[in-house]
Amino acid sequence: MRAAVYTTTGESGVLRVEEVATPEPGPGQVRVRLHLSGVNPTDWKTRAGITARSIEEFQIPNQDGAGVIDAVGSGVPPRRVGERVWVWFAASGQRWGTAAEWTVVAGERAVPLPDGASFELGASLGVPALTAHRCLFADGPLDGQTVLVAGGAGAVGHFAIELAKRAGARVVTTVSSAEKAELARAAGADLVVDYRDEDAEARIRDFSPGVDRIVEVALGANLSLDLAVARPLAAVVCYASTGEDPVVPVRALMTKNLVLRFVILYGVPAADLARGVADVTAALREGSLTELPSRRFPLDEISAAHDAVEAGFVGKVLLDLA
Ligand SMILES: NC(=O)c1ccc[n+]([C@@H]2O[C@H](COP(=O)([O-])OP(=O)(O)OC[C@H]3O[C@@H](n4cnc5c(N)ncnc54)[C@H](OP(=O)(O)O)[C@@H]3O)[C@@H](O)[C@H]2O)c1
Repeated sequence: MRAAVYTTTGESGVLRVEEVATPEPGPGQVRVRLHLSGVNPTDWKTRAGITARSIEEFQIPNQDGAGVIDAVGSGVPPRRVGERVWVWFAASGQRWGTAAEWTVVAGERAVPLPDGASFELGASLGVPALTAHRCLFADGPLDGQTVLVAGGAGAVGHFAIELAKRAGARVVTTVSSAEKAELARAAGADLVVDYRDEDAEARIRDFSPGVDRIVEVALGANLSLDLAVARPLAAVVCYASTGEDPVVPVRALMTKNLVLRFVILYGVPAADLARGVADVTAALREGSLTELPSRRFPLDEISAAHDAVEAGFVGKVLLDLA
C-alpha cells in the first residue's frame, strides 16, 4: 500500500510517501480501507518530536480517519466487513497511523459511521471530539449549565459547542475574527464574543452571572477572564499549552472553590474514552455534529498538510486516500 512514513522526528521534510506492506488485522483488530485522514496538531507535534515516542522501524502519522472495514482478525464478527467507520487513536501505541491507504486498529477504535454522516465528518472526530467530550463531562452532566468555550472556531472548540448544546447547556464562546465568529455561530453557540474586545468580560457576565464549566485552550492568556466569569465551584478544564504558562492565582481560585483540571487525551481512562465514543456516535446518529470547512491534500502532499495545521489553518485539514 502507499503510506506516508517517517523514521526520525523533525521538520515536515522527514515525511515521505512509500510502498509498505499492507497490514493484516491481528486478534481483535479490524483493517480499514481509508478514504480520508484527519490531521490534528498532535500529529505534527509527534512527528516533530515535541511529544516524542520511540519509532520502531517506521511510523505512519495521524490518529484520525474514516473509511470502510475490509478485513477482520480473529474474535471480530465477520459481519463487520463492509462497515463504514470513523477511526480514532490509529497511531497511538502502534505504527499504523491513518496517512495511508489502510490501517489496522483494535475493533473498538473503528466505530460505525451512521448513514447520514460523511467520511469528512468521520475523519474529523477522533482527537477533537473526544477531547471536547472529556473537557465537558469530566466534572458531571451539563443540563441547565452554562459553558464557556474558549476558541470556539477551533477543531476541539467546535465539537465542544455542539456537544454542550446537545447536553442541554447554554454556550458562550470566544473567537478573534468575524470569520471565526461565523463558524462558532453555525456550531450553535448562544453568544459569540471577540476575546480581544475590552468588553468581553462584561458581555459574558451579562449572558450569565457565573459560568459553570470552561473549556480552555489558552490558560495563560485567559485565566484572569476565566476567574472573573466563573461561578463558585465551577471547573476550568484546560487541554492545550498554547502561549505562556500562567502564574496560578491560588487565593483567587481558592476563594471561588474552583476546580482547575487538565486533560491529555492519551491518558484519559479507557472507560471514559468509551463513554466519549458512545456519546459522539449517538450525537452523530441524531445529526447533532457538523464538519468544519475543510481543505484537502493528496497523500503526496502530506508535508504541506502538516505545515498547514501547524500554521493554524482555520477549519479541518484532510488527506485524500480514496
Ligand atoms: N490535551 C489534549 O489531549 C489535546 C487534544 C486536542 C488538541 N490539543 C491541543 O489543543 C490545541 C487546539 O487544538 P485544535 O485541534 O482545536 O486546534 P485549532 O483547530 O487550530 O484551534 C485552535 C484554536 O485556539 C484558539 N485560540 C488560540 N489562542 C486563544 C486565546 N488566547 N483565546 C481563545 N482562543 C484562542 C484559536 O483561535 P484564535 O486564532 O481566534 O485565537 C483557534 O481557533 C492545540 O495546541 C492542540 O495540540 C490537545
